Amino acid sequence: MSAVESAPCKLTVCRGCCCGTKKKVPGVDHKAQLARLSAIDDHAARRVPVRTSKCLGICFQANVVVVQPSAEGRAAGGRPVWLGAITEDKLLDAVDDWIFEGGPGVAPLPAVLEEHVTSKDAKKPKKRKKSERSKAAKKERKKAGKKAKKAEKKAEKKAGGADADGRPEKPKPAKPEKAGTSEKTKKAEKAKKGKKSKKDEKSKKGKKSERRGEEN
Ligand code: FES
Repeated sequence: MSAVESAPCKLTVCRGCCCGTKKKVPGVDHKAQLARLSAIDDHAARRVPVRTSKCLGICFQANVVVVQPSAEGRAAGGRPVWLGAITEDKLLDAVDDWIFEGGPGVAPLPAVLEEHVTSKDAKKPKKRKKSERSKAAKKERKKAGKKAKKAEKKAEKKAGGADADGRPEKPKPAKPEKAGTSEKTKKAEKAKKGKKSKKDEKSKKGKKSERRGEEN
């Protein structure tokens, strides 16, 4: 058997802008993961070559690992299998087991890896846009709610003398008397009284003289 014929499976492990970074994939020991993948042997005790790669173009699937078939697997129709979201240890164990069994083209894909199969052409799922209709309806509901609240406040204000915010109206403080006003009024009253008493005196005097005139 030639070297090419006996070539083992190979692994390509993405370590780009997202894969292998704590920012994009937190809670994973990326170094330990790479070391674990680099220690895989196949059933013929051949060490599986591991190549790290820069971004493979499907960052939303980080961490990405590609399992290349062995020469035997390729001859049997096996093709590279792209795996995404390889973050848990159980997934690394599954990759190890699969390669030990022969990998793509030779052994069936472990069930636990099935939902991680992706491709270089995978498209990032778009966020579902809210329909314009529902947006308009929401706006309308908001508007109606505001109107109702305003009307309620107005009614409350009318009924209980509450202010615009629903709080009871505070009694208005009494206007302070203008300085000097009371003194002015006092003076005016005094002057009035003075005039009145003078008038009374005059009329009394007049009456007295009238009486004297009568007596004479
Ligand atoms: S960094 Fe791995 S796909 Fe982009």
